[in-house]
Formats: sequence, structure tokens, C-alpha cells
Amino acid sequence: MQTEVPQDVQLRAEEIRANLNYHNYRYYILDAPEVSDAAYDKLFRELKDIEESHPGLAIPDSPTQRVGAEAVTTFEPAPHRVPMLSLDNAFGEEDLREWDKKIKRYIGMPEQEAIEYVAELKIDGLSINLTYDRGRLNCAATRGNGLVGEDVTPNIRSIRAVLLELRPNDPTTQRPAVQTKRPNDPTPSLLEARGEVFLTHEEFRRINETNEQAGRPTFANPRNAAAGSVRQKDPKITAARHLNVFLYAIGACEGYFFESQMDLLTTYRAWGLRTNPNVRVCKNIDEVLAFTEEWAWKKEDLNYDIDGVVVKVNSFAMQRDLGFVSRNPRWAIAFKYPALQVQTKVEDIVVQVGMTGAITPIAVLTPVAVAGVIVSRATLHNEDEIRRKDVRIGDTVVIQRAGEVIPEVVEVVVSARTGSEEPYRMPTDCPSCGMGLVKPEGEAVTRCPNPACPEKVKQRLQHFVSRDAMDIESLGGKRIDQLIEAGLVHDPSDFYRLTPEQLLPLERMGEKLAGNILAAIEKSKDCPLNRFLFALATRHVGEHTAEVLADHFGTLPRVMNATVEELNAVFEIGLATAESVAEFFADTGNQTMVERLLASGVQPAGSDSAPRSDRFAGMTFVFTGALTLFTREDAELLVKQGGGRASGSVSKNTSYVVAGEKAGSKLTKAQELGVPVLTEEQFAEMIEDGGETRDEA
Ligand code: IVH
Repeated sequence: MQTEVPQDVQLRAEEIRANLNYHNYRYYILDAPEVSDAAYDKLFRELKDIEESHPGLAIPDSPTQRVGAEAVTTFEPAPHRVPMLSLDNAFGEEDLREWDKKIKRYIGMPEQEAIEYVAELKIDGLSINLTYDRGRLNCAATRGNGLVGEDVTPNIRSIRAVLLELRPNDPTTQRPAVQTKRPNDPTPSLLEARGEVFLTHEEFRRINETNEQAGRPTFANPRNAAAGSVRQKDPKITAARHLNVFLYAIGACEGYFFESQMDLLTTYRAWGLRTNPNVRVCKNIDEVLAFTEEWAWKKEDLNYDIDGVVVKVNSFAMQRDLGFVSRNPRWAIAFKYPALQVQTKVEDIVVQVGMTGAITPIAVLTPVAVAGVIVSRATLHNEDEIRRKDVRIGDTVVIQRAGEVIPEVVEVVVSARTGSEEPYRMPTDCPSCGMGLVKPEGEAVTRCPNPACPEKVKQRLQHFVSRDAMDIESLGGKRIDQLIEAGLVHDPSDFYRLTPEQLLPLERMGEKLAGNILAAIEKSKDCPLNRFLFALATRHVGEHTAEVLADHFGTLPRVMNATVEELNAVFEIGLATAESVAEFFADTGNQTMVERLLASGVQPAGSDSAPRSDRFAGMTFVFTGALTLFTREDAELLVKQGGGRASGSVSKNTSYVVAGEKAGSKLTKAQELGVPVLTEEQFAEMIEDGGETRDEA
């Protein structure tokens, strides 16, 4: 029998849900988040806890239910209501001008008159069809053969950038309203919104790093990685891949009328669907060409790949007149940039030792320019990849520098072989320490197992001081090599024992520089736990995982003592990571290293939002109205650092309401319930009175 859910719990769940949807909208649509990821995750977990204790509250549209579904063995066919077409290509200015003339002829328009176009970036991902039935996402399908796709709904629902429910087009319910021409129109009763699922370069790198560390094959480019992630059998894996989406087209639509492509894009955005901001209405084909030229170089700065520009006739009435030819619309064309692929010669193959001991083969190339950048090395990923592509020393190869920064060998030009090429054999011993390399069954990556391998140690030390880890400025590249070569550091704790007398005799070192280095080292002692965990260079523990661990466990001893089961029970920590973390801290060498760091004064103190005192322990604060002394986020952070809780809603359990200017209903509610109300200044005084206390980590 279902137990009754208390009303305040139900209200709290509704409130968090509304907040999470609002924060998603701020983050993904407006690109203006109001809260940190950690704050979002906290809310998310609170809701998850509530729903776990009261399963009746876990409605399918709850943001927690994005990853609800079980793994599947096959994908069901999903017919599209309106076929998903493809585009004809234009490979340069000539083609584009020709197309402009052709469509004018088709509709009988004089050549000297101009057609209004919309120019958009052509996102290099995987096309997707999202069906919203009465505003709710009820199906997500791949393109398939254009008529029938594959139903990948559970996977697509797991993507936070995908909207589960259209936001009504009513400015009074949208806090930061996006302008629409017709603010009070209803949302369509049925909508097939179409767009592209893709991965940012950052995510792509992270996924490949994780795969590499786990000995799994890496993806050749972000597009393949996105496609592989969407077609995952287990939505949990898709969720962990942090895919992204842009919507730009439409299939079936009932109950709404769009006038033009630009109308569609602005309306989508107003409903909360993610659209790409880099679009332009062009008065004629010359303006379209200017857009393509501009993006030819600007695309290098994007953090996702594009492979061209899509040009569309803006007016939907004109689009209807133009219609289709076979499977392509006449009213749109894909302008393609030339591929960033060139041929060069493999002069040698060398290997690189990474900080986890992974051995990566690298092709040393005859230097060549690829789209303005000189490339002389390209990754060959691992031994299996070299075999698969059959790359030999002396081969002519096609190399590619995609939007992605690390150039790679795409394929061998077999016809250019002379017979003098030499197949490559991976070394059996580590080039740095000479120890025998290992390649575990089923893994693609070869490793050096020696914990004292000099190259591995050097890479780990470099990682330790790097910006995203302990952030010890002035210890970049060459400096750290100098310290290692001088035998001054062997282990990260050695940094904290350095003295001016040791530094001064080094080459190119003066008193001022030595002083700066020591000050930077001193400053790093006070570091958030997440950075510290990341700095330890544990396999599978990237920046994000380190944050998850710090947020969940709060203190270093708790992370160190956690069992595999406890680690694996944390949301987002998989078994491989759990095992790797437990194994790392079970190792006596690592324990000694950590103890030495702590003994030298390093104090990893919680993640940025973890409690540092207990002055607000057991208290709940609600901030309302416009704050002027703090941002809301900072004020909430201060409460959390004091061991308290910040909430968005007032109840009889609220300890204080801090009311800024123009406080409204929450202030009234506090007064009704008799909850004490503070001004912002009074809250500031409370913080100051508390003094600076800090818990032992
Ligand atoms: S419009 C009727 N707009 O490119 C055609 N497509 O080669 C509707 N693509 O299958 C497509 N960015 O997957 C359109 N801004 C954009 C796009 C875009 C990427 C992809 C899409 C399509 C393929 C066509």
C-alpha cells in the first residue's frame, strides 16, 4: 500500500523540480547559469532522496527520471511523421551562386531580385527527431533511412540539454523572458523538433581519456563519439557522456504556425529548446558568402565541430513553393568547407609515457601545414590502432586536424608504398625505466607498471602543480624539469619542503623568482579537496569525478576509507573508478605520499561548498528579493560553509529568511509563519561574528 506523502514534502519536490528546470534553462538556453554545478547537484540529490523515500512522487517528467530506463538489447523502429531529408552540397562560391540563380528561375523570380536567406552553422553530429506530444517529449529517434529511425528515447532523455517539456509561450511565467513576436500563443499540440546531437571538444577529450585509461578503444572524432553515445544500449552510459543538442528544423507540427526559419529559431528558443546562437538573416547571397568566409576562421574557436554552413530560404511560404527534388529540399543547401586533411610522410614512430603509465605511440611526421597550422606529430592512439591502419615507418599517410586539436593519422596511402617501409613493433620495455611493459587481456593500452618510472613520476609531478590541480603558478614545464633534474623533488610533498637555499643555486634563478615560487607553493596548501584528489592522478579520476567524490564524502579520510561498494554507490561513480580509487588508497606507497603531504601542511578542505565550521549547523536559510552585498550564490555558499542549508522555499522549518529589496511572497509567508526575517546587513554581521573557523580535513 502506498503511504501518504506529507504535503510539505510534496510541495518541496515540486519546488525543486521547478528550480532544476529553471536552472537547466538558464544554463543551456540562456547560457547564464545562476548557480554552480555543485549547487545544482545538491538540489538534484535532495529531490532524488525525496523521490526514493516516496516513490509515488517520481513522476516520469521529473529531472531525476532522465536516466530511469533499463539497458536495452535492440532499438525499436520509430517512423517519422514527416521524412527526414538530407541536403545537397555546395563546395565553394560558384556552387552557391549557381544555387541562388537556380531557385530564382524555379519560382520565376528575376535574377536581380534578392531572396532572403538564413545562414546557420552546420553542426557535425548526429541528426535527431524529438517528438513533443502536447508539449511533452514522448519520442526521440535517429534519422535512420529518413523514413524510419531508431527509437533512442531513454538515451536522449538522459541528456540535460534536451528539454523534457516545452515552456509555455507566456512571458508572465518566464522569469527571464526571451522575446517572441507572439507571446501568448499556445505551444503546438504536436511537434517534431529536429536538430543535431553533438559533443564538445572538452567532453570528447574526457571520454577518450577515460576510455584510454580503461584500456577501451578511443573514438576517432567527436562525431563518432556522439553517435556511439546515442546508440548506447545503457542510458546510464549515455548520461555520463554529457551530450549536447541544437535544434534547427521541423517535421510534423500541429496547432502552431511558423512564418519563417528565423521565426522558428526564435520561437524554439522561447519554448526552451536549445538553438545555436550563430545564425544570421542575410538579405542576399552576397551576405551569405560573407557569413561563410567569416566562419571559415571563426570556426576554429568553437568548442564543437562544424563541417560547413547550412543556407535556408527564410520564408516558409517560399519554401513551400520550392518543394523538394528527390530527397533534398530545393530551399536549402549545405556549404562545405574543405576538409582539414593533408598527406605527409611518417619519418619515425616514438612512444610517450603518460602519468598513469599509458604508452602512446606517436608518428613523427615531415612537417606540413594543415589549415594554417604546422603539424609535425600525430597520435596513433595505441598498438591496436597501428595494426588496424597498418601504419609503417616511411609510409605516406593522410593526417587530419579536425576541430579537435591533436592531429591524428587517418589512413595510409597504400599506393605510395615503395617496399622500403618498415612495420612498427611496440617496445617490450619502457623507454624511460626499462621495465617490461604490460598489456592486460582485453585492454588496448600498453602500460609501464613501474611506480617509480622516471617519466611517469615526472608527468605526475607536472600534473600535480598544473592549473586545474594544485595550481602552483611559476612551476610550469621547464622549471619543474629543473627541480626534478636537480634531485630536489621526487614526490609531491617535496615541493612543500623546498627552501630558498636549494632554489638559489639553480640556473636562471634569482631571489625574487625563488620567493615567488615558494609563495605559490605555500598558497597551494589551502586547497579544495576536489583539486587535491584530481592532483593525485588516480586512474579514472578526472576533474569532474574528483568533484563528485569531494562533494559526496566531504573529507579526505572519508574518501580514503571508502570501500569499493561505498564508492560505487555514489551517483556517477562507476565500478572501474570505484576500484581504481580504493586500490589507490590501499597502496602503502600512496598512503605514505598522502601522509607526507598532510604533514607538510597541505589542508584539502572539502569541496568549495563543504562545511568549514558548524556555526549554521542544523539551520535552514532562505534568501529572497534582490541582494546587494552578496550574489545569491555566494550567500548560499557561506551558509553551506557554515554547515547550514540554503533552501528556495519558506516553511515552518526555516530558521531565517534573509530579505533583500523587493522581497515578495516568501517574505509574506515568513511573516505569516513567524519565521525570523533578517536584513542582508544582519546576515553579513552574523557571518563576521562567526569568525574564521575551519574543521580538520
Ligand atoms: S537543416 C531538410 N540545419 O546536416 C534538411 N541540417 O547534410 C534539414 N545539419 O541531416 C536539415 N546542422 O543532420 C540543417 N543547421 C542545420 C544543420 C543541419 C547540421 C545536418 C543534419 C542533416 C545534414 C544534412
